[in-house]
Amino acid sequence: MKAIIRTGDGGPEVLKLGEIPAPTPGPTQLLVNVKATALNRADTLQRQGFYPPPPGESDVLGLELAGIVEGMGDEVTGFNRGDRIFGLVGGGGYAEQAVIDYRMAMPIPDGWNFEQAAAVSEVFFTANETLFTLGGLGSGETVLIHAGGSGVGTAGTQMAHHAGARVLITAGSREKIEKSKKLGCTEGINYKEHDFAEEIMRLTDGEGVDVVQDFIGAPYLNRNLSILKPRGRLIIVGLMGGGTGEIDLGPILRKRLQIFGSVMRPLPLEEKIQITQRFVNRWLPLLREGKIKPMIDTVMPLSQAREAHEYMEANKNFGKIILSV
Ligand SMILES: NC(=O)c1ccc[n+]([C@@H]2O[C@H](COP(=O)([O-])OP(=O)(O)OC[C@H]3O[C@@H](n4cnc5c(N)ncnc54)[C@H](OP(=O)(O)O)[C@@H]3O)[C@@H](O)[C@H]2O)c1
Repeated sequence: MKAIIRTGDGGPEVLKLGEIPAPTPGPTQLLVNVKATALNRADTLQRQGFYPPPPGESDVLGLELAGIVEGMGDEVTGFNRGDRIFGLVGGGGYAEQAVIDYRMAMPIPDGWNFEQAAAVSEVFFTANETLFTLGGLGSGETVLIHAGGSGVGTAGTQMAHHAGARVLITAGSREKIEKSKKLGCTEGINYKEHDFAEEIMRLTDGEGVDVVQDFIGAPYLNRNLSILKPRGRLIIVGLMGGGTGEIDLGPILRKRLQIFGSVMRPLPLEEKIQITQRFVNRWLPLLREGKIKPMIDTVMPLSQAREAHEYMEANKNFGKIILSV
């Protein structure tokens, strides 16, 4: 089958369309003819050699897919050849065929194309787990979502708004802030022009926020803690700005703060199945009804994986970059 292969660790130029053997489904896996997959920041790290796949997973890039069931293992129930499915995988999405555990596969909602379905799993699962399962974000609370224009940010903004929270975001351009407002954020802060912590205190009349969802890491750590209300929660979801920082423990003590971290890919299958179920129960019905939407920036053919990575690393996307297979 055709797949994107890495010719080494490095920049986007190491990604090439090549031929590799098709995967064979294990007893509980579906073999899927992939029709669309999507980029995630983690793919850019894996490409550079910093984020190898967990043991047993394909070393082909791609953490999510949408496609058609082509075959299956002996223990699979509830699926048939020809079913249109989508879901999260530990790797292997940038290829014509991939395998997914049947308990992680979800039927594609009627009327959706493969590109829409490929834009959902990684970012809506991550946003649900971090804002709600860990962060306990509730109606009437205020949340700051950093990188509001990211794939995860565009999903989280819609979900938090729908849950009745006041949503504030940061982003690096006015254009991304305006687009985020259409998804439900009330105010956006251009972090290149303003100190986000000062702006948050101004916008909340000195009160701060209940939850911060952070992807930037070290450079934001103390400012994130400074803007949390008593009993506030900081959830570390990414480290795009760096992973080593010095922390002032004072605010944690005084304000009884909680700090969480989360990463989905290395979790045991059983936990990923539970993550899928939590998403299916709470958010898939709303996606089906169109109350929240997969946010697609661009669709490119699989053969342009290199260009797609360049586009993501230039921070140009608002929402998801899809690779059509
Ligand atoms: N823990 C998990 O399970 C999990 C799962 C999925 C994703 N993630 C993490 O979530 C983050 C977003 O992923 P994604 O795929 O949604 O990303 P994405 O769509 O590529 O968006 C990332 C955006 O972040 C902003 N950004 C990049 N570097 C920055 C920096 N140093 N300071 C401030 N803003 C910066 C840029 O927007 P601007 O134009 O606003 O600068 C960029 O477009 C990543 O850190 C990723 O690793 C974690």
